Amino acid sequence: SLLNHYYCKKFIMGTSRLKSHNCFSTSITKQHKNSKQESTHETKIIKRRDQACRSLLIQVHSSNSYKDLYNYCLQFGDISSMHHHINDQQNYILVEFTNIVSIKKIMSSASFTKEDFTPVKSSILWFRKGQIRLQKSNQKKVSLFVENNMLPNEEKRTNLLNDAKSISGQIIILYEMMKLTDLEIRLRFHTAHHLEQYFSRLFENIKVLPFGSSINGFGRKMCDLDLVLDNITSRLVFHSKFNNNSKRYETKDFLGILADTMQYFIPGILNVRKILHAQVPIIKFCYNYTQTECDLSATNMTAIYMTELLNLYGEMDWRVRPLVIAIRAWAKSQKLTCDSPGHWITNFPLTLLVLFFLQQKKILPSLQLLKLYSTHDDVRYTENGVDCTFLRDINKLPADYKYKINQDSLETLLYDFFEYYSTFDFQTYGICIREGVQIRKPSRSALHITNPLETTLNVSKNVNVCELNRIISKMHDAIYMLETNEFGSNNWGIISLLKANNDNENLKKSNTTKGQTKNIEECSEDSYKNSYEISDKFEVSVEANI
Ligand code: CTP
Ligand code: MG
Repeated sequence: SLLNHYYCKKFIMGTSRLKSHNCFSTSITKQHKNSKQESTHETKIIKRRDQACRSLLIQVHSSNSYKDLYNYCLQFGDISSMHHHINDQQNYILVEFTNIVSIKKIMSSASFTKEDFTPVKSSILWFRKGQIRLQKSNQKKVSLFVENNMLPNEEKRTNLLNDAKSISGQIIILYEMMKLTDLEIRLRFHTAHHLEQYFSRLFENIKVLPFGSSINGFGRKMCDLDLVLDNITSRLVFHSKFNNNSKRYETKDFLGILADTMQYFIPGILNVRKILHAQVPIIKFCYNYTQTECDLSATNMTAIYMTELLNLYGEMDWRVRPLVIAIRAWAKSQKLTCDSPGHWITNFPLTLLVLFFLQQKKILPSLQLLKLYSTHDDVRYTENGVDCTFLRDINKLPADYKYKINQDSLETLLYDFFEYYSTFDFQTYGICIREGVQIRKPSRSALHITNPLETTLNVSKNVNVCELNRIISKMHDAIYMLETNEFGSNNWGIISLLKANNDNENLKKSNTTKGQTKNIEECSEDSYKNSYEISDKFEVSVEANI
């Protein structure tokens, strides 16, 4: 009954009649206070990767097929969880088995459709209609999880924000509305696993790791998925085909081959674009089972450790993530950020601005302090020798450094954020998370935000004066709106900050690539060659503007 997915043929249709949970009821403050940092970021990643290895994404007729599928799957072993996922009006169930052996059994029992011309097994399957056979099992009943993974439209969002009692309450509601759900995180790790399965048939010891906002806790629903290829190395290394070439050409050629393979052989991958001549070569594609835009790069460990650092800052105080998400949402609706590359600020440097501001408020410590208290377990270097050592376990910070003195509300922090940067002397000073203090600007860039792990680099060197002025001007507007729109009025609190801004249409910042289903093309590379996204994203060049 189970069929391998291959070039998705949409013959199974159906709609869900299940209602989603109301996810806004729990108080994040309580959640955060109750949950101590029970495991490190690294162990969480290991757990999520393991979960993905034990999971299959199975397309079903409708969510009503759940009991039938549950019974069918029981013959292969115990099931830990089942999650309902709807994509493009198709119904899927993400089945997590307790033991990986079950996956092996089920994979060998699944078949291909007659139309498959290159049958390759994957962890995405169809469940065909068939006779229901009840399985005898002692396992505890597993119910179907149903989560709302859709972002509410502006009207619904406004209604929900209107129900809040304060601006702080609005920020929490917004955060709960926008943050990634457990299912979305599972699906992101499953996507990485799906790719890894294919690549590991071509290359030994290859890993596909998610990073960026999908896992640092600052991601919003439907945000892009950043993926990096990594391989497990030991002291003895096999001679390889590209040993004599420069590393850069090696990566470029390698990614070029992978891009073709992905386009033609991996189910669910559409619209592959090779951006190979950029500072850091990447493959862009759309993952059709979740409608997610993905960026795949090769060996970029600094970005992985940066994700870990950002996640750590997010864990340190319950106000960090809601504040960052609110400011990211404000910047998006004011068109200060957008999906395509250009002279504007992106979410990563914007997040660093918020973290730096929270350092000034004594809510977050400097990176230098985290380095000072690091232990030998925390020592990490990248392949290029970048020191990524910092304390991973925040419980090991001395009591005086836990910065619980500042108890400002989210409302105060939001207002003060706008005030702090709208009066900041960007001409003279730069932002330095590493030191936790402003520094004299070492470059002529309009905005200087030192890369915390590679301090010779500026993560916002693409931002021009015009864009910086726009940011400052929008901050002044935000202050004005917060001061004038009184509680109870139509636009009170953050509602006015999130109203879509339709001026600056001439900037043509709409994302032109999303949703298209083109074949592999090198042409889009031109728009990236001279663009700043890549140099901003993973700066390799040290000399530019420094
Ligand atoms: N990164 C980095 N150095 C940069 C840019 C990015 O180390 N100059 C790392 C950061 O860890 C960042 C990740 O790469 O989180 C992904 O970058 P990007 O996709 O631009 O930012 P996200 O935080 O993922 O935000 P978004 O939701 O907009 O994708
Ligand atoms: Mg990203």
